[in-house]
Amino acid sequence: MFTLFPEWFGWFCSQRHVANARAAGASLQCVNFRDHTPLSGGQVDDTPFGGGAGMVLRVDVIDSALRAHYGVDPVLLAQRRRVVALAPGGRLLEEELVQELSGEPALTLLCGRYEGFDERILEHYCSDVVSIGRYVLSGGELAAMVLCDAVLRKLPGALGHEASATEESFSAALGGHPEYPHYTRPAEFRGWPVPEVLLSGHHARIEGWRRERSRERGAAGAGEGAGDAGAGRT
Ligand code: 6GU
Repeated sequence: MFTLFPEWFGWFCSQRHVANARAAGASLQCVNFRDHTPLSGGQVDDTPFGGGAGMVLRVDVIDSALRAHYGVDPVLLAQRRRVVALAPGGRLLEEELVQELSGEPALTLLCGRYEGFDERILEHYCSDVVSIGRYVLSGGELAAMVLCDAVLRKLPGALGHEASATEESFSAALGGHPEYPHYTRPAEFRGWPVPEVLLSGHHARIEGWRRERSRERGAAGAGEGAGDAGAGRT
């Protein structure tokens, strides 16, 4: 993880499932680009050629940081492992990409700040450019945490309960659909009952009901972007 704000990740790393994943062997290191800049005064960015607002992360700074950390030419690094830049214009982070990344033995994440990365960084040092949605954050750090959260919880040992990741929203077990609705006690609250089937103890019916609700939510979400206003409240 390369960032200008490594201290942001202290809080993130203290989360239970992140700590679990680390205890189970996953490691997460944060490197500050600024510690490796060849420029004076800790400079890491510069004004864009051609003019325009904002500052751009310099390619020579990223080169130095990657080279210092891995001890190889970063062009070669990107051929050996996934090097992911977080930027708003990248490939949308969805379940399929999370699965893909969670199968990698190691990842390198580059968090951008300011207006973004010099394009040559993306072109020569990165295997992927990833975005968490079509809106602009002031830096890639929060996006990197989102990515790490989603990827780490796929790793064995991250969740207390191994089954929780297999049947969760968008998993293959649910045919890529969102998760079915959950209920717990009380069985009735303010006149709102829990669906009767869930209290029936009939596992096959419960299973069928859950698949059905999950599929409905998938259909609603695909058409309207999000939400499931009416689904599952029968
Ligand atoms: Cl990865 N970075 C920034 N700066 N903004 C974003 C993003 C990433 N994904 C969505 N918005």
